[in-house]
Amino acid sequence: MKIVVIGGTGLIGSKLVNRLREQGHEATAAAPNTGVNALTGEGLAEALKGASVVVDVSNSPSWDDAAVLNFFETSTRNLLTYEAAAGVGHHVALSVVGTDQLSESGYFRAKIAQEKLIKSSSIPYSIVHATQFFEFLKGLADISMDGNKVHLPPVLFQPMAADDVASGVATIALGKPIHGVVEIGGPEEFRLDDLVRRRLATLKDPREVIADPKALYSGAKVGERTLVPGKDARLGKTSFETWLNQSAQRAA
Ligand SMILES: NC(=O)c1ccc[n+]([C@@H]2O[C@H](COP(=O)([O-])OP(=O)(O)OC[C@H]3O[C@@H](n4cnc5c(N)ncnc54)[C@H](OP(=O)(O)O)[C@@H]3O)[C@@H](O)[C@H]2O)c1
Repeated sequence: MKIVVIGGTGLIGSKLVNRLREQGHEATAAAPNTGVNALTGEGLAEALKGASVVVDVSNSPSWDDAAVLNFFETSTRNLLTYEAAAGVGHHVALSVVGTDQLSESGYFRAKIAQEKLIKSSSIPYSIVHATQFFEFLKGLADISMDGNKVHLPPVLFQPMAADDVASGVATIALGKPIHGVVEIGGPEEFRLDDLVRRRLATLKDPREVIADPKALYSGAKVGERTLVPGKDARLGKTSFETWLNQSAQRAA
């Protein structure tokens, strides 16, 4: 089966392309540096020729409110238009657990717009909502600075390894379209501030992390369980400790 991975050179995309190839599929990585630009449409017609499935794991280079909204709206419209012309039978997109409740955030307004376009298109689809990646914990600190300290609400969250995200998305891409949302998450629950503090300590990053109930997540207020998947979520196996050990081994 030919599967085109939009954003196939990124963190999740490159792992996903490998997973699909390991399982004997013709998976191609589509991104600006392979000549495919979902934002301008460049290279899409050629890339989608003969494809059965398109998986969109791209991300906007800029998280500025207007830029990210333009990225997800324009690229999703382009993808769905070119997919219809090429006869693609399954559009899979990666989004985030809790997206619907995070509309105060510019980034999440863009993800909501992306999902709305997919749901109203004629292409059979599956939307995967993943929890935060362990790989993103430092990034979370970076977007949560107030002065020189990291301010995070001490809410629950259930992050997961990028390897498990790629495996979860691969399984869904190879199955029948769900015509809805499926959630994937990590095997353990943590407090958001606590795990970011632990991650910064392992990186010897001296920034102090403050548990601040009024702090926002990516610009949005979050409740105790906004970032936690529901009971039907498919859970990855990699614990935080295992991921830390694996990351240290890879770095060595
Ligand atoms: N971070 C989290 O914790 C989290 C949690 C749940 C879901 N997600 C979702 O996961 C998705 C993937 O995240 P990621 O961290 O793997 O992203 P990433 O590593 O930043 O990769 C983004 C990919 O998108 C490509 N791209 C950028 N502009 C493009 C364009 N115009 N046309 C086609 N491809 C383009 C990039 O190509 P170049 O490298 O060539 O620019 C790259 O391959 C995102 O949609 C995000 O919302 C993230």
